[in-house]
Amino acid sequence: MKVLVVGGGGREHALCWKIAQSPKLTKLYCAPGNAGTADVAENVDLAATDVAGLVRFAVSQSLDLVVVGPEDPLVAGLADELREAGIAVFGPGARGAELEGSKAATKDLLERHRIPTATARRFDRSGQAKTYLENCTVWPQVVKADGLAAGKGVIICKDAREACREIDSLMEERRLGGAGERVLIEEFLEGEEASVLAITDGEAILILEPVVDHKQVGEGDTGPNTGGMGVYSPAPSLTRRLLRQIEQRVVIPSIHGLRREGIDFRGVLFIGLMITEQGPKVLEYNVRFGDPEMQAVARRFKSDLLPYLHATATGKLSKMAPPDWDPRFCVGVVAASEGYPGSYRKGDRIRGLDEAGERQDVVVFHAGTSELEGEVVTSGGRVLCVTGMGETIDAARDAAYGAYDDIDWAGKFCRRDIGTRVEHRKERIRKMLGAGRTKGGAGREPVRD
Ligand code: AMP
Ligand code: GLY
Repeated sequence: MKVLVVGGGGREHALCWKIAQSPKLTKLYCAPGNAGTADVAENVDLAATDVAGLVRFAVSQSLDLVVVGPEDPLVAGLADELREAGIAVFGPGARGAELEGSKAATKDLLERHRIPTATARRFDRSGQAKTYLENCTVWPQVVKADGLAAGKGVIICKDAREACREIDSLMEERRLGGAGERVLIEEFLEGEEASVLAITDGEAILILEPVVDHKQVGEGDTGPNTGGMGVYSPAPSLTRRLLRQIEQRVVIPSIHGLRREGIDFRGVLFIGLMITEQGPKVLEYNVRFGDPEMQAVARRFKSDLLPYLHATATGKLSKMAPPDWDPRFCVGVVAASEGYPGSYRKGDRIRGLDEAGERQDVVVFHAGTSELEGEVVTSGGRVLCVTGMGETIDAARDAAYGAYDDIDWAGKFCRRDIGTRVEHRKERIRKMLGAGRTKGGAGREPVRD
């Protein structure tokens, strides 16, 4: 099979690394790729958002499969155009990608299909939004820009003054341009966040082993949000019972809902959840693999991934047997450049990659790297994701941090607490669901095991 992976971050290196191990593969391309993908695939000098260029390339190379990593090309309709040209694609078309591209469209879908989520109001005019906020009696409230905002479109506001200021900033000053033309004002949900990724061809569903991300830049979950500073998998806090509840109340209704709306969704639905006293509620959908979640999935997915991706793209997922997973823990630590998630330095030479990569149970995935005169240099905010495997979470952490310490460049930093709150999280979720049951909330409903 000739395959193209679209994108150039850590997620795409992990996809390429895993696909490259497939005996079914004959040729692997990555566009645009990074210094890591160059080791396992041929990098193609096309931007991930160059829809016309990517379609031309796929057709000229008679590719058997295109796997789209990031959301922007999906929102721009890359999957539709490739399908029209007769190329199998892992990734939804523009209508499916709207789930990530528009929070209002997502909320409509959630409500139409009675999928649990926070209640929300939509506003197209700032005056009406502010009148509503001034009459709110319950705080905090969550103000959300409708469109794609690279993590900057959700603001938790403690009172009407703060919320009205945000409305002005989004709708009048257009801080996020068109993305803030419409806003949602949403009920604040108290609970513990979790995410679930499900591969689907629109009919069959394969739920992946859960991965826990660490979104904030600072240790102890402090500071601004990032794309993700580290992961661990599996997630002991998501018990079999809770996962079953998530599957029945959220995953299956979501995928059935998409089908009933006539959306041909072939790819991965990444569901962000808040586990509340009333059970799991949807915070958001993404229409792509998580980054760095994919890095942990690639390490723990023992079966050949390529046939699953191809079966998803061609509507044959129901024919696939459940995959094998490595039962060990994986911890992934993101090595970032000083300043991230704000502005950061680029072009620093990275040392120690070979030593780190030679360690047992370690794989170093590249994200923001490029090659300059035969050297690997930094070119992004999140530079690497160093993954370690182990029988216990502590062993996996030791492997990952040991390798992280082998690597060096000016201004490198990471969070030192990835995977240290596993028991704490488990206890919080257990208490949350227990409180729901004693209060007779939705957590009480029986779940078929
Ligand atoms: P979103 O992009 O909608 O997932 O929001 C980004 C982050 O904001 C989430 O990961 C949560 O931490 C937080 N968030 C979003 N919506 C809510 C809500 N209704 N209640 C509490 N926190 C929220
Ligand atoms: N790591 C979070 C995301 O990919 O959205």
